[in-house]
Order: sequence, then C-alpha cells, then structure tokens
Amino acid sequence: METAKLELNGETYELPITVGSEGEIGIDIRALRGQTGAITLDSGYGNTGSCTSSITFINGEKGILRYRGYSIEDLAATSSFPEVSYLLIYGRLPTQVELDEFNHKLTYHSLIHEDIKHFFEGYPQKAPPMSVLSTIVASLTAYYPVPDDLAGQEKNIIRLMSKLKTIAAFAYKKSIGQPFMYPRNDLGFAGDFLHMMNAVPTEAYEVPPLFEKTLDLLLILHADHEQNCSTSTVRMVGSSNANLFASISAGIHALSGPLHGGANVAVIDMLERIRADGGNLQKYIGMAKDKNSGFRLMGFGHRVYKNFDPRANVIKTVSDRVLNEMGIDDPLLDIAKELERIALEDDYFVERKLFPNVDFYSGILYRAMGIPTDMFTVMFAIGRLPGWIAQWLEMRNDPKKRIYRPRQIYVGEGLRALPPIEER
Ligand code: CMC
Repeated sequence: METAKLELNGETYELPITVGSEGEIGIDIRALRGQTGAITLDSGYGNTGSCTSSITFINGEKGILRYRGYSIEDLAATSSFPEVSYLLIYGRLPTQVELDEFNHKLTYHSLIHEDIKHFFEGYPQKAPPMSVLSTIVASLTAYYPVPDDLAGQEKNIIRLMSKLKTIAAFAYKKSIGQPFMYPRNDLGFAGDFLHMMNAVPTEAYEVPPLFEKTLDLLLILHADHEQNCSTSTVRMVGSSNANLFASISAGIHALSGPLHGGANVAVIDMLERIRADGGNLQKYIGMAKDKNSGFRLMGFGHRVYKNFDPRANVIKTVSDRVLNEMGIDDPLLDIAKELERIALEDDYFVERKLFPNVDFYSGILYRAMGIPTDMFTVMFAIGRLPGWIAQWLEMRNDPKKRIYRPRQIYVGEGLRALPPIEER
C-alpha cells in the first residue's frame, strides 16, 4: 500500500500512508490543507492519530494491551509497578541493578518540601482530592528547578514519581483531620503509600502484604493507555514546551472527569444508589438504555475496546480470590456481578459492544483495602503517572514535534455590522 487517493472538487490527491509495527494504517494528512485547502473533521478524535508512538499498543477489537511490546497479562503476573514504570519511562526492562537503583531513588525522593505542607492547611477539609493533587503538582515548579534541557529533567521525573503518592496521602489525611504520616524508606512503593494513608502516630501499623500486592497490580493495570483524554492533555500542554509539572497537573484535571478516571468513583456511587433503591437492576438497565434519562451504566463501554477490556479481565480474575483472602463480603460486588450478567445478555449493550471496563471492578478492590471512594481517581492518577511521563518525554524528544494546534470548521455568523448598544 503506497498512497491513499482523495477526490475533492474534481481533483485527485495522493496521501502518503504510514503503517505501524502492528499493521495499523494511518493516512498521513499533514500536507492536506496546504494541497487542498480542506481539513478533516473528527470531533472526539475517534479517527485521528495525533502522533506515532512506541510506548503502548492497544487492539480494541482483540482486547490487546501491551506496554513496550509486553502483554498486560504477563506484566500483571510477574512485574512490580516500579519495574513497569521504568519500562514505560526508559523504554526497556531494567536489570536487577537498575531496578534496585530506581527503587532506591523513588524511596529517597518521597519527602515533599516542608513548606508545601502549608498548602494543605489552606484547603477546606472536604476539598476534592484531585483538585488538591493537581494544584500541588503544578506548584512543584516553584520548589524544584525546571531545567531548560531535556537531559536535566531526570531528577524531576524521579521527584514526581516519588512525591505524587506523598501528596495524595497528605491530601487524604487532611480530609479526615489526621496528622500527616511521613514516608518510610524501608517500604516499597505501594506499601509506603498504604502506610502514609492508614498509619497514625500513636500506634504501630503493618502494611498487609496482600493489600500491597493488590495495589501494586492495580497501579500496573493503569500505568499507560496510549492517547486517551488525560494523556493527550499532557502531550497537548507539553507541546507548548510547558514544563513537566505543569503538563502532568493538566493531565490530572483531565483524568478527574466522570467519563475518564472519575468513572471508578461513579461506579461505586451507582452501585450504592442501586442498593439503596432496593437493588432493582432492571430499572437501572432500562434507564441506561433510555437516552432521555441522562443515566449511563458507569464502568461500561470504552472508546477503544469493543470486545473486552483486558485490564478488567485481569481484575476480575484476581478480585474473587483477593476478596476471599481479605475475608471481605461486599454486597456491592454481588450487585456488580449481577449487573454485568444482565447487561451482557441485553441486546442494547451487545449491539453497541459495551463491556465492563477497568473501572467497573477496580473500585471494589480499592474499597476492600479501605481506600475511601473519593480517593479512587487519585489512585488512577498515581498509576497513570509513568505513562504520562513516558508520553511527555516521547513527544518532547521528537525532533519533528510541533505545538498541538487543531483546526475547526467555523459554523457561526458571517461578518455583520456592530449595532450600537441601544439597538441590541
Ligand atoms: N451506558 C449506556 N449506554 C452507553 C454507555 C454506557 N456506559 N456507553 C456508551 N453507551 C452508548 C451511547 O449512548 C451510544 O449509543 P447510540 O449509538 O445509540 O447513540 C453508544 O453506546 C456509543 O457511545 P459513545 O458515547 O459514542 O461512545 P464513546 O466512545 O464516545 O464513549 C465512554 C466511551 C467510555 C466515554 C462511554 O462508553 C461511557 O460514557 N462510559 C461510562 C463511563 C466510563 O465507564 N468511563 C470509563 C472509561 S475506562 C477508564 C478510562 O480509560 O478512562
């Protein structure tokens, strides 16, 4: 396949083709406007490739997700979140020595500047944790020098990876009025976060190994997902050469929406609502099908996955076992399973290829670990961070990078005379 042909106003134009390493075909329209005067229109960007990337491969039809060529199932079964983060950010799996060094760096940069603690005092107790997270990440620019050159970014990458969980846990402690718990250097990444969330200064707290392992798995499953809304935001902001902290802060905001990372909160709210309403699942299935109800089955559907979400499959496989081992019998899990069963047999969901996504079951596991609902999206942000960083670096290192600047088709008024105020 060499070129695609486009006929427009009686002229034929040849458009080059880019073929990805998995056979994905992209019609290269970079010269389109210059040649034809026309642009493409693709609101929601469902058919637009904003970049080439060698980080993550998804095949939505076949339910494939790979980071740097490794399947999510293999990574989930054998890797740790720091190892996966290294893979995403540096482009290859670390040796044992490199992983030990990376873990050491993540551990020894986990304190935040003491002055940043004052930020938390300024927030009301019930401040949304995603807003706090995003604002404080943006503020890191004021505390840690932002080098001009990309090589100098390494330290800020480590800082961000290491400090985000401290900021997240401090935001939670502030919201419940407890003293901040400082990070502990003898703990691993997930364990340290659970310690900062759950420990109190007055008694000893041992991080349950099962919780630590489960959280590590959930972070791996969220670590990257190619050009989704928040990642595209990170790239968009970074394309203006805005610094890493500013770009990631913007990504956190994008993630907070209920159609994206906020869905894991919306799922639990929905399941709680169904339970409080007597567990009438058919009523909610009916509402989800009714376009006028404004209600969607949260945790169902995905822009890319049209068969199954491999991340949801991994979670589903472990969740029964983990909940059993934790000795947790969560009535919301029964509602979730029954809702899934009914929806998967319903023509509306079958025809539209709507399946449970990663957020459908992740919230049940977060709940089981004692993580409060309003922190779920924060958990997603901590997991997605290495992906954002990797995508930001890839974009900034691209010698052909240009500022992101989409066009539009204007459908407003034509030129008109400006009337004086008394005639309006
Ligand atoms: N419940 C009921 N109907 C739905 C749902 C749903 N959850 N999702 C999509 N539909 C319908 C939609 O109404 C439309 O129907 P029709 O063709 O008759 O107009 C059709 O399915 C296609 O939907 P769409 O809105 O065009 O699909 P999209 O690709 O723009 O949206 C989505 C994808 C994930 C935003 C959407 O499925 C949704 O809102 N799901 C619920 C929120 C959710 O779980 N989000 C988390 C996504 S996974 C985590 C992440 O990566 O962010």
